[in-house]
Amino acid sequence: MTTNRTFTMIKPDAVENGHIGGILEKITSAGFKIVAMKYTQLSTRDAQEFYAVHNERPFYGELVEFMSRGPIVAAILEKDNAVDDFRALIGATNPAEAAEGTIRKLFASNIAENAVHGSDSDENAAIEGAFHFSGREIY
Ligand code: PPS
Repeated sequence: MTTNRTFTMIKPDAVENGHIGGILEKITSAGFKIVAMKYTQLSTRDAQEFYAVHNERPFYGELVEFMSRGPIVAAILEKDNAVDDFRALIGATNPAEAAEGTIRKLFASNIAENAVHGSDSDENAAIEGAFHFSGREIY
């Protein structure tokens, strides 16, 4: 059981392909309440910092370039068991392996451009939310 908040980004591929509305509809229909949200773009430095934990992985450079190439939607979501329930809603990292009906199955193209991010722990949800939002932007 996790606590009641998670952090998400609708990634540049999904924004480019016109999926903001469809993805937000899936999120709210699944019972998540949006407590903070913004339309923004990561700089290269922002993306390097956000994904610093992955900087030894072979795809790090590609991930940073992708995540900073265009606008994203960043949001903090509230629901009981938020982190785990949101990871279930978005599906496997690789959309080819994602379950039917999950956001990545519906809206993602491939493992490198997989439509949405979801925090993997309560601790990271708090860190990632604070990366994008000040306390007065969360309602
Ligand atoms: S996860 O969700 O953190 O357990 O997945 P993980 O496999 O550790 O991946 C971490 C983030 O890297 C992205 N990723 C990739 N990007 C480009 N190319 C490849 N091959 C690739 N594999 C994984 C993945 O989408 C994760 O980003 P976020 O934003 O956390 O979804």
